[in-house]
Amino acid sequence: MMKNKNNLAIFASGRGSNFEALVQEIKKGKINVAKCVLFTDKKDSLVRQRAKKYGVKDIFIDPVRFKDKKEFDQEVIDTLDKEKIKVIALAGYMRILSPFFVKYFENKILNIHPSLLPSFAGNNAIEDAFNYGAKVTGVTIHFVSEEVDQGPIIAQRPVGIKDKMSLEDLRKKIHETEHKLYPQILKLFLENKIKLEGRHVKIT
Ligand code: GAR
Repeated sequence: MMKNKNNLAIFASGRGSNFEALVQEIKKGKINVAKCVLFTDKKDSLVRQRAKKYGVKDIFIDPVRFKDKKEFDQEVIDTLDKEKIKVIALAGYMRILSPFFVKYFENKILNIHPSLLPSFAGNNAIEDAFNYGAKVTGVTIHFVSEEVDQGPIIAQRPVGIKDKMSLEDLRKKIHETEHKLYPQILKLFLENKIKLEGRHVKIT
């Protein structure tokens, strides 16, 4: 029996393939989660259909209802507090979190990024690496800090870009890598096996 189970919110804005990879492992009982909810800022996102398929509660808050980003993020915090959420996994959440949001969940927010950070930060990392002509790119999982894509790195996996690969081949390879790595790292994090020392992350 695993003790001290956490309540997790997965944040996603789009397709939700990483959401699905995480939820599948949670449903199998492999990740130490008491309750899991989806949070999304996109009404018609495919990830909401995936949440429905797995019976995961989905919370949608429409950013257009709010005067500014600060008010929106405060509403998100209030909503997560009602759900007693302690840990957040960003999985294709395409909105930058306000500094006070990051502080509120300090060292409790993980993000997955489809490149080897600090190379190819931003929202088009797979395409950027491909168009740049890089020979190796990959996947990074990191803690979220106030500076976008710059938080302490937890894990990275390289993906080679072979000469014959198309952009679509690369996307496929990156996503396959993400779907394996994110559940493994989230599991370790929720078992308190990931320790942060300054910028350095140790897996015990
Ligand atoms: C993933 O590749 C994730 O790494 C990326 O968005 C994709 C979401 O796919 N995140 C970023 O680029 C963050 N800057 P999914 O909705 O199928 O999980």
